[in-house]
Order: sequence, then C-alpha cells, then structure tokens
Amino acid sequence: MGVKTPLVRAMTPADIAAVAELEAESFADPWPLAFFFEELTLPGREYVVVEDGGRIVGYGGIMLIDRDAHVMTIAVRPERRRQGLGTQLMVALFDAALERGARNLTLEVRASNHGAATLYQRFGFSAAGRRPRYYQDDEDAIIMWALDVDQAEARRRLDLMRGQP
Ligand SMILES: CC(C)(COP(=O)(O)OP(=O)(O)OC[C@H]1O[C@@H](n2cnc3c(N)ncnc32)[C@H](O)[C@@H]1OP(=O)(O)O)[C@@H](O)C(=O)NCCC(=O)NCCS
Repeated sequence: MGVKTPLVRAMTPADIAAVAELEAESFADPWPLAFFFEELTLPGREYVVVEDGGRIVGYGGIMLIDRDAHVMTIAVRPERRRQGLGTQLMVALFDAALERGARNLTLEVRASNHGAATLYQRFGFSAAGRRPRYYQDDEDAIIMWALDVDQAEARRRLDLMRGQP
C-alpha cells in the first residue's frame, strides 16, 4: 500500500461544509457557510483545499485586485498543524496569484498570531502597518506585504518553500 501525500486542489462547493467546520474550529469570528459559497462565485477569487486520506485538512484563498493578491484566509486542522500543510497551501496561493499576473501579495494577521506571522515571513511577507481594532474582539491587525513576487528572487524563495531546488 503506497503512502498518499496530501493533495492541494481547487475548492468546490462540495467542500464547503467541511471547510466551514474547520473555519469554526480555527477562528473566533468564523465566516458563515454562505460566505464561502458566495466567494466561489466571485471574480478574481482562487480558493484551494488540502485533502489527505479523503478528508479536508486545510484551505486558503486569495482575491486578486489589479496586481495585488489579498490572502483572504488560510487554516489547517488543529491536529495537523506544524506538518508543512500551511506551507503547501501558501505555495498554492502564490502559484495561483502568479498565474493571474499578481506582483504583490498582502494579508492581515492578528497582532497576537505570531505562528502565522512566522509562516508569512518565511514567504517574504513583512509588516507594513497596523489596523487598530480590526477584529470583532478589538484586536489590532498587522498588515503584511510580500512585494515583487513575480521577480527572480521571490520565485527562488517560492521554489525553496515548495521543496524544490
Ligand atoms: C497559521 C496556520 C495556517 C499554519 O499552518 P501549519 O500547517 O501549522 O504551517 P506549517 O506547518 O507549514 O508551518 C511552517 C512554519 O511556520 C512557522 N509556524 C507555523 N505555525 C507556528 C506556530 N504556531 N508557532 C510558531 N511558528 C509557527 C514555523 O516556522 C513553521 O515551521 P516549523 O514547523 O518547521 O517550525 C495554522 O496554524 C492555522 O490554521 N492556524 C489557525 C488559523 C489561523 O490563524 N490562520 C491565519 C490567519 S491570518
């Protein structure tokens, strides 16, 4: 019996029940189910899931505005964290952004979410500002950008994150 590696693929409406369940486990202010259905119909969106053994273990998405790709969300099932799945998802989001002609990626992260911020820094994001009381519980968001992701240096970094030379 071969070992099946986790597979990253495009999110479909059939995935949304599992995705919304994972969203509720991962965020204090989760998106409602209907929000995901709507997102999948809107232009400039690209949502992916990572599936392992027939189960959705993570997901993420971007929204492209002009040449900036906004990372809308990313989450991995709690018991599957720190196994590289968030990295695989982020690689897929970068690939989707680049395919659509993005030059920069941006996102917001809770000021206290050092784990996620560390993951983003590994992809070349750096803090560029703060949105005070951005979240429902009044926590600040840190705004991060990864600039010029279409340039050679950033592509080399992405290939390193992908685990390829
Ligand atoms: C953020 C999240 C998606 C990361 O997923 P993941 O699968 O654990 O990420 P990876 O295993 O690919 O981590 C890659 C690297 O990022 C850093 N990192 C990730 N999570 C970390 C944590 N909790 N603490 C410190 N560093 C962390 C580490 O450098 C890690 O490498 P290492 O495990 O070799 O040390 C996951 O923790 C999650 O779903 N969190 C809840 C939802 C959330 O906060 N999403 C982000 C919203 S902005």
